[in-house]
Amino acid sequence: LREEALTKINEADDLKALEAVRVGYLGKKGPITEVLRGMGKLSAEERPVVGELANTVRAAITEALEAKKQVFEEEALNEQLKAEAIDVTLPGRPVTLGGPHLLTSIVTEIEDLFIGMGFEVKEGPEVETDYYNFEALNLPKDHPARDMQDSFYVTEELLMRTHTSPVQARTMGEYKGNKPVKMICPGKVYRRDTDDATHSHQFTQVEGLYVDKNVRMSDLKGVLNQFAKQFFGEEREIRLRPSFFPFTEPSVEMDISCKVCHGKGCSVCKQTGWIEILGGGMVHPDVLKMAGYDPEIYSGFAFGMGPERIAMLKYGVDDIRHFYTNDQRFLAQYHQA
Ligand code: PHE
Repeated sequence: LREEALTKINEADDLKALEAVRVGYLGKKGPITEVLRGMGKLSAEERPVVGELANTVRAAITEALEAKKQVFEEEALNEQLKAEAIDVTLPGRPVTLGGPHLLTSIVTEIEDLFIGMGFEVKEGPEVETDYYNFEALNLPKDHPARDMQDSFYVTEELLMRTHTSPVQARTMGEYKGNKPVKMICPGKVYRRDTDDATHSHQFTQVEGLYVDKNVRMSDLKGVLNQFAKQFFGEEREIRLRPSFFPFTEPSVEMDISCKVCHGKGCSVCKQTGWIEILGGGMVHPDVLKMAGYDPEIYSGFAFGMGPERIAMLKYGVDDIRHFYTNDQRFLAQYHQA
């Protein structure tokens, strides 16, 4: 009986099988129990012999059961440890870090550049009055040039600003006509345009204004030349072409020379070799007057540029909508490590 039980214990391959063996041999209906129960019927001489034998057999089986049970438990523990083990030698999962939006970086770069030339940075409201957005800039209510900047009106007198020039008018007003003004104003602007690869109903601008005694066109050219070289590269040239803005006289548009160099040599990126990047001019005397500056004493220049366009030129971005659709595959290319 003992041998039989021990073989079965040996053969049991899990805890459940082992328990079945235990019940089979040591359980209430098992042979050992039966023997012990039958002790009463035995003679006085037989009793201690049978009792001792039954007890030894029971002890042996119990011991074997316990030993086997321990083996199973150890195995189970090892398996659990193996399953839950952390492999510290595995490479970590990369943590994706955010970064400034390309436009934010461009605007910051432009700001730093002009701060370096002594300009201060000013901001103004995006919902602007008709007065500051147009009238103070020499665009009275019936002026046909208002058509150049189709607007989103909030009320008859309020609109989403169509450029950041109103910040210049506000700053001149703030300085009350007796202090030089040297500022740039970056910010969002809005125009009623159908969005396509080169148009967006909302975009950004950085405009600059310098008003002082004896400010001349050559100062404008010098500042813009400095900007173009620092921003796009020393090899760039600029040229000014006559243009029209109601708030500047004379008005200009500025082109930069564009040359793209690659492995095989250099080629111009446009047939003419020039590409337009901004507008500007000498502040119109009426604009100075409306802001409280005497045009006999003060003169100034102003300019305005679109950071989207500038970013598109600098990085070869082919669609303005990339700036606003927030596709990480596009944006992440411009995150500095
Ligand atoms: N405000 C003009 C525009 O948005 C740009 C500009 C600014 C032109 C300052 C001249 C002087 O088109």
